[in-house]
Amino acid sequence: MKRFPGRALLAAMLLLLGLPAGAASLPDVPGHAVASAHPLATRAGLKVLERGGNAFDAAVAVTAALAVVEPYGSGLGGGGFYLLHRAGDGKDFFVDARETAPGAATGDMYLDRDGKPVPSLSRDGPLAAGIPGTPAALEHITQLFGRNSLAENLAPAVRLATEGFPVDAKLAARIAASAHRFSEAAEAVFLPDGGLPVAGDRLVQNDLGGTLMTIAEHGSEGFYRGELAERLQGGVFRDGGIWSLADLARYRVKEREPVRIDYRGYRITTAPLPSAGGITLAQIFGMLDALKWPSGDDTAARHELVEAMRRAYRDRAVYLGDSDFVDVPVGRLMSQEYANTLAAGIGRMATPSETMEIAGLQENRAKGENTTHFSIIDDDGNRVAATLSINTWFGSGYMPAETGVILNNEMDDFATAPLVPNAYGLVHTEANAVQPHKRPLSSMTPTFVDGPRGVFITGTPGGSRIITMVLLSVLAHTNGLNVEQAVAAPRFHHQFLPDRISFEPEALTAEQRTKLRARGHELEPSSRRFGNMQAIHWDTRRNRLEAASDPRGIGDAKVVRPRSSP
Ligand code: DON
Repeated sequence: MKRFPGRALLAAMLLLLGLPAGAASLPDVPGHAVASAHPLATRAGLKVLERGGNAFDAAVAVTAALAVVEPYGSGLGGGGFYLLHRAGDGKDFFVDARETAPGAATGDMYLDRDGKPVPSLSRDGPLAAGIPGTPAALEHITQLFGRNSLAENLAPAVRLATEGFPVDAKLAARIAASAHRFSEAAEAVFLPDGGLPVAGDRLVQNDLGGTLMTIAEHGSEGFYRGELAERLQGGVFRDGGIWSLADLARYRVKEREPVRIDYRGYRITTAPLPSAGGITLAQIFGMLDALKWPSGDDTAARHELVEAMRRAYRDRAVYLGDSDFVDVPVGRLMSQEYANTLAAGIGRMATPSETMEIAGLQENRAKGENTTHFSIIDDDGNRVAATLSINTWFGSGYMPAETGVILNNEMDDFATAPLVPNAYGLVHTEANAVQPHKRPLSSMTPTFVDGPRGVFITGTPGGSRIITMVLLSVLAHTNGLNVEQAVAAPRFHHQFLPDRISFEPEALTAEQRTKLRARGHELEPSSRRFGNMQAIHWDTRRNRLEAASDPRGIGDAKVVRPRSSP
């Protein structure tokens, strides 16, 4: 297992060599922090940190714990993205554990005989599931970045699965809303006595505990090969899916270069393809710079932001997909020159999306609050921002027998047919078409911000709205808001199509609504609040550590200060 020198040691080494200390010039972190969407997952992360693990070990523990206590949001049957910062050498890493399309996948697998899309095929049941990436990430991160063994990191989750934990109101509600989609094995787990669990009931997941123990003992091989793989693949195949054992055996996480954005003295480090997040954020920040945003009053500022969102989401639809399979003009899309051109088209009035080239698009509504994000920093300054998913609530609803693993329905994030909206109303073109082994385009955007206010770690679930929520949180941070304010701030969103601003009621005053309508915007107040952000701020000027869990969710953000500190 690799070990890396701590920051103090590195600073001393650099000093001896007469080199600038760089990252080592930061103060010592005043403690450690974990913010996640569930108190039991936060507790699992803290326990690992307190017993000598680092932030990367804690990330593995939190991932596994969330798979048990928030089974509707993420899990071993899904995937996600981990953004890591290693304090020892100041390097950032992006671990892409996104699901892949099975080898037998085809561009028309979600169409009926007449060529019409059948949305249920890419959303419900085993045909909707990509090959999971999370089990591979658990091993990869532990082995390359952690200090603990995989078994140590998975231990809290094994306990939660086998000893059980009290069902919370959110879990009870989501089981009730999804029960009609559950396969037999999923029903047996989540409706243990044939009825819906209520808050306070104890939920035991013995099969999931067994799967976690298999991974703890045999590493990711225990999941992707052998008996467990046969159970997973056998179930999928029997019930109408197209996985092969070879698909499972060939799954690998990919380490990718994170996207870097410089914005007014802040360095934003964020998600590259197959997430749309980094490129879309870069385009929006580029347009804001070109506009010298904000150039007018509050309404003008919101109008400009919305117009920048609209343009970036249009390009998301047209150009973005898995760059291992399609050519994406990343350099041009992220260039300031191109942002200037886009910004030049932003005027006083809204630009109707239908007038922007890309014809024949259908409309749909963005919906769904799911997936999960967590943020961690340890005493050495190692950091993690991770967003993980099985896509919509309880993913495909399908659990292969004797695995305890709910499979994702991430295949719906592909263009199941050109220009047909997915579960979030997003449209795509050829760049994001289904191809064997390709990764579907994502919006998940785990992000670090480094700058004059120190370090900010952010991210959230929320489907297509993830990118604009992360954007608003970064702007809140650069505008001086504290982490609680940044996480709680009311949200608004535009995604090119449907052509309207969706917003939380508190996000726009009556006057702002009137003024935005006068500029040609259609407004749609959201009946549900959106997102579940988990963020950390290490203020290096005052050397304070703060963390916040979204008040919209039931998560928990905890900062633990060193014993010696006041
Ligand atoms: O990867 C994506 O963009 C989606 N599968 C994320 C889904 C999500 O955040 C669900 N929550 N609303």
